[in-house]
Amino acid sequence: MLSTILVTGATGNIGLDVYNQLNIMGLSPVAAVRNPDKAREILGTEAQLLPFDFKNPATYAPALKGIKKLFLMRPPDIADVKTYVRPVIQAAKDAGVEHVVFLSLLGAENNPIVPHYTIEKDLMASGMAWTFLRASFFMQNLSTTHLAEIRDEDSLMMAAGHGKTSFIDGRDIVAVAAMALTESGHENKGYPLTGSEALDYFTVADMLTEVLGRKITYRNPSIIVFARQMKAQGNPWAYILVTSALYTTARLGMAAKITNETERLLGRPPIQMRRYIEDYKQTWMPKI
Ligand SMILES: NC(=O)c1ccc[n+]([C@@H]2O[C@H](COP(=O)([O-])OP(=O)(O)OC[C@H]3O[C@@H](n4cnc5c(N)ncnc54)[C@H](OP(=O)(O)O)[C@@H]3O)[C@@H](O)[C@H]2O)c1
Repeated sequence: MLSTILVTGATGNIGLDVYNQLNIMGLSPVAAVRNPDKAREILGTEAQLLPFDFKNPATYAPALKGIKKLFLMRPPDIADVKTYVRPVIQAAKDAGVEHVVFLSLLGAENNPIVPHYTIEKDLMASGMAWTFLRASFFMQNLSTTHLAEIRDEDSLMMAAGHGKTSFIDGRDIVAVAAMALTESGHENKGYPLTGSEALDYFTVADMLTEVLGRKITYRNPSIIVFARQMKAQGNPWAYILVTSALYTTARLGMAAKITNETERLLGRPPIQMRRYIEDYKQTWMPKI
């Protein structure tokens, strides 16, 4: 018997932990994945999987059949959300989905440039209930996207200048997502989720240095150097542009906003950067 909760991005940053958390809660969610073999390696051989690819409309209806609650995330490399996310929202509506919990971006509601703005508008117009998790920068970017540069080069290469960021631990977003998917009272609400402190990357590098016991340096690259490096790593231009825009936002001091929403929802203070680095310490230890 398949569950009625479908999780997209279940092999990624937040989706994976949402999937795991719902399993811990005994809800047997279904993971919507584009590569079932890879997903089984990550989620385990017992995982409930259905093929789903934002870029393959034939996968939408079979994955959404019987689903009532959808955890929706936009893959970072999908910029054209009118082509690849809008039809998924329509398919969810057609399939009888009642509530969509969408992983959005802090301030998305006022920023038509980011893809999340369009997705939020489409969900609000869909007739389904929605909850928007408008998250600030994830601390986990340090242990995923920026893992290799920290672990192998002792460097941080974000193009954020001296700007501060109100980082949030993804584990706090997952806790709110699980609440929104399983409790009533979160329908048609947007939650601005941040951590409780705004830090610049020099401070983050100092914290990494202290916890890891070796010098980590924030290189503070210009946007152009940063974009060139992302291109050299094989990233598509659409992704590079969105990422560069986000770091420019941080550079200009516009990512420093702190809200008390995470604490209000969870009934405890958000996890702080120092604790995140301690918890993930092994991730950045050099490969032997
Ligand atoms: N990172 C941040 O600080 C931050 C902050 C606020 C909001 N956000 C937003 O959160 C969202 C997720 O970002 P993230 O960086 O955490 O990414 P992520 O979840 O790690 O993204 C990758 C996930 O998307 C899946 N995916 C990629 N293309 C797909 C496709 N065509 N069809 C189905 N699944 C596909 C991947 O599956 P495979 O395993 O098959 O590759 C993987 O599960 C983004 O919209 C981002 O803008 C991010």
